[in-house]
Amino acid sequence: MLVLLAGIFVVHIATVIMLFVSTIANVWMVSNTGLASVGLWKNCTNNSCTDSLSYAGEDALKTVQAFMILSIIFSVISLLVFVFQLFTMEKGNRFFLSGATKLVCWLCILVGVSIYTNRYANCSAFSQSESECHHGYSYILAWICFCFSFIIGILYLVLRKK
Ligand SMILES: *[C@@H]1O[C@H](CO)[C@@H](O)[C@H](O)[C@H]1NC(C)=O
Repeated sequence: MLVLLAGIFVVHIATVIMLFVSTIANVWMVSNTGLASVGLWKNCTNNSCTDSLSYAGEDALKTVQAFMILSIIFSVISLLVFVFQLFTMEKGNRFFLSGATKLVCWLCILVGVSIYTNRYANCSAFSQSESECHHGYSYILAWICFCFSFIIGILYLVLRKK
């Protein structure tokens, strides 16, 4: 049981880090040449990023940014609550509050990445010469965090403190 809790704790920290990297790295879509990429904040060519993101002011992008930031905040809160409960909660109780907070984080990722997929996960972000593209690691990390957050959230709800 202790090993399982320690494992979840490590995966939870990894999820926070991956969410952070995913949100700040501007590598959501990448041109197939690998020279150009776009993210939630900037438009990058040859590793130099500028604010020339054509859809930067759109509400949909702002919503994605907001939900990704919320997901980081809820993931961190859930981690802190878990540590707190680990030391203060009576034996036999479930980590209900950590689990519920982690599932809110999961919902935020779901909303953010869904909107991104619907609106921006296409190659129109790139110039004619770079018109072929694929998903970048930020986008993939966000989906991995989505899966991990669900599993962590459910495990917190199910596990009892021993
Ligand atoms: C990013 O910059 C390139 C060239 O600077 C431009 O062709 C492209 O349309 C820009 N993409 C977005 C989404 O602003």
